[in-house]
Amino acid sequence: MYRNHRAKYLLLKAACSLLTVGVIYTASAREGMWLPPNLKLRADDLKNAGLRIPVEKIYNTNGTGLNNAVVLFGKGCTGEIISPKGLVLTNHHCGYGTVQGLSSVQNDYFAKGFFAASMSGEIPCPGLTVTFIRRMENVTDKILHGIAEGIPESRRDSLVESRIRTWEKAYKHTTGYDASIKPYYSGNQFWMSLSETYRDVRLVGFPPNGIGSFGGDTDNWMWPRHTGDFSLFRVYAGSNNKPADYAKGNRPYQAKQFFSLNVGGYKEGDFTMVYGFPGTTQQYLSGAQVRQVENVLNPLRVTVRTKKLAILDRNMSQSRDVFIKYTSKRAGVANAWKKWQGEMKGVKEHNVTGTKREYESEFSRWAARSAGTGGNTLTEVQIAINASEELAKADEYIKEAVWGIELVQQGAVLEKMRKAFQSAKTNNALRDSLQKIVAQTAGFYKNYDAHTDKEMFAGMMQLYMDNTPLYVPAYYRDMKRMHGNSYSRWADAAFSQTLVSDPEKLKLFASRAELKDEGRILSDPAWQLYSYMTEYRKTDISPKLARYNNDIKRLNRQYMAALMQKEGPDNFYPDANLTLRLAYGKVRGLDPDGPEGYSYQTDLEGVMRKNNPNVEEFRVPEYLQKLHAKKDYGRWAVNGTVPVAFIADNHTSGGNSGSPVLNAKGELIGTNFDRVWEGTMSDIDFNPKVCRNISLDIRYTLFTIEKFGNAKWLLNEMRIVK
Ligand code: ARG
Ligand code: GLU
Repeated sequence: MYRNHRAKYLLLKAACSLLTVGVIYTASAREGMWLPPNLKLRADDLKNAGLRIPVEKIYNTNGTGLNNAVVLFGKGCTGEIISPKGLVLTNHHCGYGTVQGLSSVQNDYFAKGFFAASMSGEIPCPGLTVTFIRRMENVTDKILHGIAEGIPESRRDSLVESRIRTWEKAYKHTTGYDASIKPYYSGNQFWMSLSETYRDVRLVGFPPNGIGSFGGDTDNWMWPRHTGDFSLFRVYAGSNNKPADYAKGNRPYQAKQFFSLNVGGYKEGDFTMVYGFPGTTQQYLSGAQVRQVENVLNPLRVTVRTKKLAILDRNMSQSRDVFIKYTSKRAGVANAWKKWQGEMKGVKEHNVTGTKREYESEFSRWAARSAGTGGNTLTEVQIAINASEELAKADEYIKEAVWGIELVQQGAVLEKMRKAFQSAKTNNALRDSLQKIVAQTAGFYKNYDAHTDKEMFAGMMQLYMDNTPLYVPAYYRDMKRMHGNSYSRWADAAFSQTLVSDPEKLKLFASRAELKDEGRILSDPAWQLYSYMTEYRKTDISPKLARYNNDIKRLNRQYMAALMQKEGPDNFYPDANLTLRLAYGKVRGLDPDGPEGYSYQTDLEGVMRKNNPNVEEFRVPEYLQKLHAKKDYGRWAVNGTVPVAFIADNHTSGGNSGSPVLNAKGELIGTNFDRVWEGTMSDIDFNPKVCRNISLDIRYTLFTIEKFGNAKWLLNEMRIVK
């Protein structure tokens, strides 16, 4: 935002010294993730950009808004309702973890894909939820009224916390909806979302990885792209169409609002909007903070994850069982790892830190002129950021590397067991609680391979201890020494002695334990690793870091308040926080005039060009090759091929995966699934020249469902228009 604003600022200032900053802000239309209830403030801009429906259709509180057709899918993706029978479209990578839970070597949905033959064949997905946003309301005054500026930050936090809880309860009571209140604009505003969460969600369609994650990590965050990144689910409801636990007799959710699918195509320059749940952005960080993220923290995270990935890859390539166990976890590790690298590159190449600093000197001059606005906040932020850097690094190593060892995390299970020892009165009661604790670990062990984790232990421990020698608990140093400074010997010992490397060992212990056996927990290496580290963080890192972070949080809030005053509160958008937002822009190639120019669209011919039977990520399923050879595209043929993906300059972020990409009439033309490499820095700085979101063309989705998945019955319940 600053970069963009600054460039225009300089230009316009030269042309006309009387132009105000506010004018310049509204002039940039592409950047921004806007709050649906505030869209009416942008109605003119939306209309000028190309929107052809009233903004009240996009969001309203009387049940007829499109907000009722966009859902939070699981805990971090977006999905959309595309039929009156509760059919949900989202990304393949958003359904990936759920499908892993349903898969095994015998039933390998990643290799074979899955398309239900009828509604009765849809598969229940325990734990998966879908959340509708019925209404959003500005509750800033209810939360902040009477809380004085200048009280200690921790005091303010607890006041705000308790108000949030009280109001959430009150709203839930009066409306019957779930209520969640979150901070916006660094805590200068608070908004409440009223929602309904459905708990019976079933798998309907999932193409094999050869389509749904085609291109894998090699193509991830890249354009041109050829991934059929979609999956289908269905929401089921209990009586009165309301949320209910899974029951065979639940009925498909009856949706009054769902998206029509427009298969008429689009062209460069067409208006598009993305409606969904972007997770986290940091558009308003100061230059000092950007420097720390991009020069210190991201490089550290990338180093740790490079090693993690090498260990995972070695083990996963040797066994399909290990592959299935770790494929979803690996995707998570690799995804951010690659994004950070793109972000670092973009921030450097576009000199984001420099542009931010330039903007900041202009801001400081403005602040000096305007009474009552925190002019020295930025200097104070810089001091706090520099002073806390070593601690921040150490904490990051602990989070990325030490907690990256699953054995250490499982120490938490042993800690729960230890508490059971302390509260139990009889051996029977003790075994009862222990067995309950063990039962909860079944999901973890389904996806656990101790051999892989042991290699992870040696690799991660070395990275951590070699790189932050000053921030290591004494126990860790002692253990390393006791094992002759060999991380792999230490790992061997820990894995053979602990209860948690093997679920059978753990079960046996829980079934036979007596009150006198508490010492077995206390001497367990996983418990010790977990407990010493938890304690060390609690006493030596977190309180010190919190002191700085509280300062930084307060300063960020004050800086934001000043920015809102300077630029006008409605002319810029709050950072993403996993609440419902609308972004809008245009279908647009990437620097089409430059030497590296990319077109805005890809097609099935491109998929076939990338086909490589020797590389798992680029292996096109045989049946798709057949369809291609016969040109058997049915009604999905466009100029003798099938369109696959397209790019546009909508401002999106992680969490927007699966979001509906809509045309000017609010009809769905695609599903958002990624951003382009050149523009991954948009979480920090959105540059309209290079930032693009990548969407799957709805026609490739429908082609895959009908021709590849043989599930034409699903098309019959959709509303397909041209
Ligand atoms: N980059 C996309 C997102 O941020 C897609 C990730 C899934 N694909 C993968 N190869 N890991 O989530
Ligand atoms: N793939 C991302 C997600 O899972 C969306 C792409 C992005 O970060 O913009 O939400």
